[in-house]
Amino acid sequence: MSPEQIGRPRQVIADLPAYRPGKGARQAEAEHGITDAIKLASNENPSPPLPAIIDAIARAAAGSNRYADHRATEVRAALAADLRVDPEQVTVGNGTVGLLQQLWLSYVDPGDEVVYPWRSFEVYPVYTQEMAGRAVTVPLAADLGYDVDALVAAVTERTKLMVLATPNNPIGVACTTTELRTLLEQVPERVIVCIDEAYREFLDPGFGDPVTELVPEFPNVLVTRTMSKAHGLAGVRVGYAIGHPDVITTIDKTLVPFAVNALAQAAALAAIEHQDEIARSVDRILAERARVEVELAAAGWTFPNHQANFVWLALGDRTDEVTLQLEKRGVVVRPFSGEGIRVTIGTPAENDRFLAALAEVTGSG
Ligand SMILES: Cc1ncc(COP(=O)(O)O)c(C=O)c1O
Repeated sequence: MSPEQIGRPRQVIADLPAYRPGKGARQAEAEHGITDAIKLASNENPSPPLPAIIDAIARAAAGSNRYADHRATEVRAALAADLRVDPEQVTVGNGTVGLLQQLWLSYVDPGDEVVYPWRSFEVYPVYTQEMAGRAVTVPLAADLGYDVDALVAAVTERTKLMVLATPNNPIGVACTTTELRTLLEQVPERVIVCIDEAYREFLDPGFGDPVTELVPEFPNVLVTRTMSKAHGLAGVRVGYAIGHPDVITTIDKTLVPFAVNALAQAAALAAIEHQDEIARSVDRILAERARVEVELAAAGWTFPNHQANFVWLALGDRTDEVTLQLEKRGVVVRPFSGEGIRVTIGTPAENDRFLAALAEVTGSG
């Protein structure tokens, strides 16, 4: 019996492929009969959370017989103070993906258009389909950045939402706030423009800060950020968003009750307190990104202007084969069939393994 015959799922959900997370190291080991595989496939921080964060989580665990504060009030207040905005301008969700789902749920009716560049983060088409919305994708520019004019031109009467990941996943190219301003000046206020800054902490500060430069001026801008990457809390699930209080109030209505659990709230508060140490972890990753780029360039590879914690190699037709061969050597990367691979910056030893395996597999570059 096909799953569609049990109950009557909404057609758009029946048509949706099951979510496939990036392959884990253990799975690759089992598939290829190897040991000691490493995962460079999900843009995680290779270091465990700071000891102070682990302590905070452990303390919170002792009280987990109680429901947490649904609104994560203390976390909102701490983020607001840190970002110098009103607490009413901040919300916290179950990772950025949780907040993004709330955003789609709140603004996208069946048939509404959602504009985003492509290639980009893979949940955008999934959420659009879940809402029975219409995806309007805009090709990347020649430098693999965004084509602002084409994005503006894609907006119609039916457009409800535009989503821009900057730095973009999986390419790593970012947009300046000057480019974003040019775009926002041409997009009507009735369209929510979400600036997804999951990789903000790895971005060159010269690109500007949408929270200080754009949010005060454009009420239709929502900036999303996460503690999954720089803060090393991917497994804990804390995302947050900054925008106009009315937009925040709207998306808050769709927060699953208690979605930001007590452990996540405690971890977030500790992370906000220990940003200097988190910045040092980011510096280590950036130094490694620079080293990996130098090595790749020396081997003849070319790549875009990476601004996140990963590198992108446009392997085209060789993508699947190179991915398989890297995996057999215990290096799990994220393939985008026919396009390229995204490789997370790991520890120095992990990066060395990737570089050595790549050289072996491709006779680089
Ligand atoms: C562009 C982008 N947005 C959001 C996320 C999800 O972050 P979170 O772990 O906070 O849900 C990712 C993670 O890969 C991402 O690449």
